[in-house]
Amino acid sequence: RSMPWRKSWVDPSDFEGRQEELGRVLSKRAYEVWVSEVMLQQTRVSTVIPYFNKWIAKWPTVQDLAEANHDDVLSVWKGLGYYSRATRLHEGAKAMIAKSSGAACSIPSSATELQEFPGIGRYTAGAVSSIAFGDAEAVLDGNVARVLSRQLGLYMDAKDKKATDVFWDVADQLIKHISEAKTSAVPGKWNQALMELGSTICTPQPRCDDCPIQLTCRAYSEGQALSGKSRSPT
Ligand code: ADE
Repeated sequence: RSMPWRKSWVDPSDFEGRQEELGRVLSKRAYEVWVSEVMLQQTRVSTVIPYFNKWIAKWPTVQDLAEANHDDVLSVWKGLGYYSRATRLHEGAKAMIAKSSGAACSIPSSATELQEFPGIGRYTAGAVSSIAFGDAEAVLDGNVARVLSRQLGLYMDAKDKKATDVFWDVADQLIKHISEAKTSAVPGKWNQALMELGSTICTPQPRCDDCPIQLTCRAYSEGQALSGKSRSPT
């Protein structure tokens, strides 16, 4: 599916001797991924796209957002709901600019550093770090948890706290593995593929006939993909 925050991979070796430009490009990517992920947290892709485009046209960089008027921020967000998300984005941008000493790349690449900013949790940090910078960091939301649970036959409820820890561990091990094994998969694409599969095909009522990984799915082979909540988390 085409999404405006999905862009081709930036190869740092193409920026030999142009570090500042590379920093600017990566920072812009990171900012776009961050905005899109926050918008997507409680809202579907088709709804988010026009809001995302309007937001990026108005505030193209994290610097622009940091300097924005808060009423403008809320008014561009209007209609997306859950307004605290807009406020957290604005606060996060201000904190990033306050912390960066005028360096071109004001958005850190590491998931650990990203999580030091207000409003950036493990999910958003993992998404920005993997999608914009290519780091082997996992993401986990309800959709990813459901895909992993079914594919690996874990049969755990994604809403259970102990299960969430297990899912994070599994997601983490998988992304470290695909990255270390130098498979053709890259972390940012891997994460987005899991999210998209979970939101379009491996839904609570899954469309297994259309699933590209049906052959390796444990729940499918055990006839459990369509079963009730206790066996297949929704
Ligand atoms: N849902 C949340 N983030 C997403 C992304 N980057 N791609 C597809 N679906 C998503």
